[in-house]
Amino acid sequence: MLRKLCKEYTKLDDIDINKLQRIASILPIIADLVGADMFIDCQTDDPNAAIVVAEAKPTTSPSMYDDTVVGQLALRKNEPAVLRTLELGKSTRELKAITQENKTVRQSVAPIHNDKNNVIGVLIMEQDITKDVRQDKKIEFLAETAEHLTKTLFNFKDNEYNLTYHMNVAIVMFDQEGNAVYGNPGARSLYRQLGYRDDIIGMSFNNLALDEGNFKTIVNQREIKVSEVTVGKLTLQTKYVTMKKGEKVIGVAMLIKDVTEVREKEKELILKSVAIQEIHHRVKNNLQTIASLLSLQSRRIDNELARKAFNESISRILSIAVTHEILAQNGIDDVDLKTIIDRIKNSTIKLGSSGVEDIEILVEGDIITINSDKATSIALIVNELLQNSLEHAFKGRKSGIVNIKIKKGHIYSSVSVIDNGVGFDVQSTKSSNLGLNIVRSIVKDKLNGHLVINSNKNGTEIIFDFKNE
Ligand SMILES: Nc1ncnc2c1ncn2[C@@H]1O[C@H](COP(=O)(O)OP(=O)(O)OP(=O)(O)O)[C@@H](O)[C@H]1O
Ligand SMILES: [Mg+2]
Repeated sequence: MLRKLCKEYTKLDDIDINKLQRIASILPIIADLVGADMFIDCQTDDPNAAIVVAEAKPTTSPSMYDDTVVGQLALRKNEPAVLRTLELGKSTRELKAITQENKTVRQSVAPIHNDKNNVIGVLIMEQDITKDVRQDKKIEFLAETAEHLTKTLFNFKDNEYNLTYHMNVAIVMFDQEGNAVYGNPGARSLYRQLGYRDDIIGMSFNNLALDEGNFKTIVNQREIKVSEVTVGKLTLQTKYVTMKKGEKVIGVAMLIKDVTEVREKEKELILKSVAIQEIHHRVKNNLQTIASLLSLQSRRIDNELARKAFNESISRILSIAVTHEILAQNGIDDVDLKTIIDRIKNSTIKLGSSGVEDIEILVEGDIITINSDKATSIALIVNELLQNSLEHAFKGRKSGIVNIKIKKGHIYSSVSVIDNGVGFDVQSTKSSNLGLNIVRSIVKDKLNGHLVINSNKNGTEIIFDFKNE
């Protein structure tokens, strides 16, 4: 039965299962020895549930159970000690629990480790809760004295006039022996959420710690120790602060912050950014496929004008692809403008449409981060203007310079494409050709910016601006 249940509900391998089986075989002896019901539970896929794989009822004293519970689940809300010990690999002593038959018992749980020191299961001893009335009395007394201690030592008033009362951080104060002497409402509700049914006041550090922390080590620590643990579906950040009067350690404060939501948001963000990256990657690939299909086709076109039109479309498509390529790398929706323009410069040079030997293209200016929409528009514009400079500005020349300047402004920022070419009559080109009309409409409609074209025989300067984010 144990092997079948382990195979069905756990990820344990045969070696681990054999070890549990060996322990299960002596469980009846232990049960008689301690005069209590004994169980072995193992972790399931659900972080808040364990499976009972073995049990033994004492023959030396009455069992708390009417029936077998092997094969049933132990839930965190009913048996917090079981899930805590499975998670932390630390023993939990005498925590209240509700059995599968709905009886209240006191559980002490010890971890079962394999040779690799992984927790493969837990050994549970259950005692009749009524037995330890004395125990409760003892705890009550402890809590009282501790309460008194707290008030004196920390002059903490356990009421709404005390700041910690309202903090959403769970705070538990331990005296120098490691007994809990104070717990703010945040702490009490957190431990209830973890299934603790006992009052945490008077409970030992070893029963309350949510991480590997060891009380002695903490008391002697110099710096504040912060760690993050996953308890069931919660992600909790624990911080220990040693409190001193002079050099004397008078206690330890444990602060527990529930960062589950923050961590889940972070995970979501990462997932989202991976998804965004994937989408941009695909868009880039598809655009490049279209461009290479078009260039395959353009090679078969004899008509010079038609081939030129194809090549222009190819470079326009590639300039859009550049933005997606960078976004696919970044995984966020913002890109650096200079990176985009550098890529456009490289792909324009690669397409090589100038026919002029020596053209120097410089990209300089401020660092500006823009979102992907703006990036695509600016990539298209710079592609058009750079194409124009390479194609038109240096006709009959051996060399030339194209300078692309990025200027960050308070509200508007601008990009200038300046060449020292032959220049052209801006008015006469107003309606005729496509390139500059594309530039005009994108600046106006997409960037809500302004476009200025200055051109004379010393060259052409085209400036467009766009609103900062
Ligand atoms: N930087 C420049 N230097 C010199 N002449 C230019 C420059 N930019 C544009 N021109 C002139 O302006 C005209 C219009 O440019 P536009 O980009 O609109 O059309 P095009 O480049 O001729 O064709 P396309 O529609 O393929 O871009 C060009 O034909 C060219 O004569
Ligand atoms: Mg053009």
